[in-house]
Amino acid sequence: MRSTRRSLAARLTAAGAGLVLLLPAAACSAGDDDTGAARVEVFTWWAEGGEKAGLDALVSRFTADCPGQQFTDGVVAGGAGINAKQVLTARLAQDDPPDTFQVHAGAELTEHIDAGQVQDLTAEYDTWGLRQALPEGLVDDLTVNGKIYSVPANVHRANVVWINPQVLSDAGIHTTPKTITAFLRDLEKLRKSGIESPLALGRDWTQLMLLEAVLISKLGAEKFSGLFSGETSWSSSAVSAGVRDFAKLVSYSNADRDSMDWPDAERLLIDGKAGYQVMGDWEAADLEAKGFKAYDWFTFPGNGDVFQWLADSFVLAEGAPNPDGTKCWLKTVASAEGQGVFNAAKGSIPARTDAAGTGSASTAGFSSYQQSAMEDWKTATPVPSCAHGSACSQAWQNAVNSALSAYSTTHQNATTLHKALVAAATQFIKQERE
Ligand code: GAL
Repeated sequence: MRSTRRSLAARLTAAGAGLVLLLPAAACSAGDDDTGAARVEVFTWWAEGGEKAGLDALVSRFTADCPGQQFTDGVVAGGAGINAKQVLTARLAQDDPPDTFQVHAGAELTEHIDAGQVQDLTAEYDTWGLRQALPEGLVDDLTVNGKIYSVPANVHRANVVWINPQVLSDAGIHTTPKTITAFLRDLEKLRKSGIESPLALGRDWTQLMLLEAVLISKLGAEKFSGLFSGETSWSSSAVSAGVRDFAKLVSYSNADRDSMDWPDAERLLIDGKAGYQVMGDWEAADLEAKGFKAYDWFTFPGNGDVFQWLADSFVLAEGAPNPDGTKCWLKTVASAEGQGVFNAAKGSIPARTDAAGTGSASTAGFSSYQQSAMEDWKTATPVPSCAHGSACSQAWQNAVNSALSAYSTTHQNATTLHKALVAAATQFIKQERE
């Protein structure tokens, strides 16, 4: 169980006035619509491709499960919630909460709990039998001072490399690299074959995913997790070697990375302009939704059997205009049926152990990638993700993203980046201990 920490307001920078432009139309009104149906505003960043397909599947289930309730889409586009989280911060500060919002299990959720922005769902967990249906470790990660405040919809894996097999085979690459050195060799081979930017990469948070995968290889699961709990030093030579490897990997990526979201980088892979992309496993569903079925994947070189996890969950916001309708939404998210249809489309795996695709239940409708992820999740070593809120606070993630952005856009050297990472860790670990 986690203990409470200091308030979100103190950690997050105030959202700028420009954000008002990003507010979705749904933010302006809530409650009943013209037809008298009660509306539930669901705030996510699932705007397109496999992500929207997942949300749509959940909405169909909600519509069937919750007569008299109507879904209102509070979506704000931008991978990993990079825009949505800023809009949410602004809305919560203005006492204009959506009924429910998407939030990652772990450190990110804890910040909302500490700030009193989400309601206690412990009684619903008992009524809906969720303590038995969800893995114990996940329930533990969601629990603060004995109470549970969110319903997890899925489990995603972050440390995956997606490939365009045709591009690799055209360059004579037929094996999976097992080490970062071998990966760099293959990237060089691809470049020599005429693929100028063989590693498709996007903006800050996608670079953080790459950095985290490298650090898992350099440190192993336990020490990697310790980077965020304060037990592993960021100043070590292993971390600095990781940062240097990260820098080498970035040098094989597209120069316009800082202006790209993950689907833009994914497009380079689909179009054969790159051979590899490091991205979470929402990419499998997205590639399928975009009709590119000829993809393949491998766990990031050197990560062994480490499963870097993250989980999307939904909360009942404090001050939600329609709490009863929202509970019905949450019950759908929590249900075995809801998790079955949602995850099949979203590319993740159900958080419940009794939903479709898990235990002895049928895996029909799940891609072969998802079936392998389900197997791995049972046996692999889990580590959390900073880019997706399970390992670090939002403020820490923002600081690391800024350091990466500065590195990438101003062509700093690896030593400068390492120093910025050490400074961020020192500041946030100290704050968490206070
Ligand atoms: C993650 C989220 C995933 C997926 C991804 C890309 O933070 O947990 O469900 O949406 O961002 O946008």
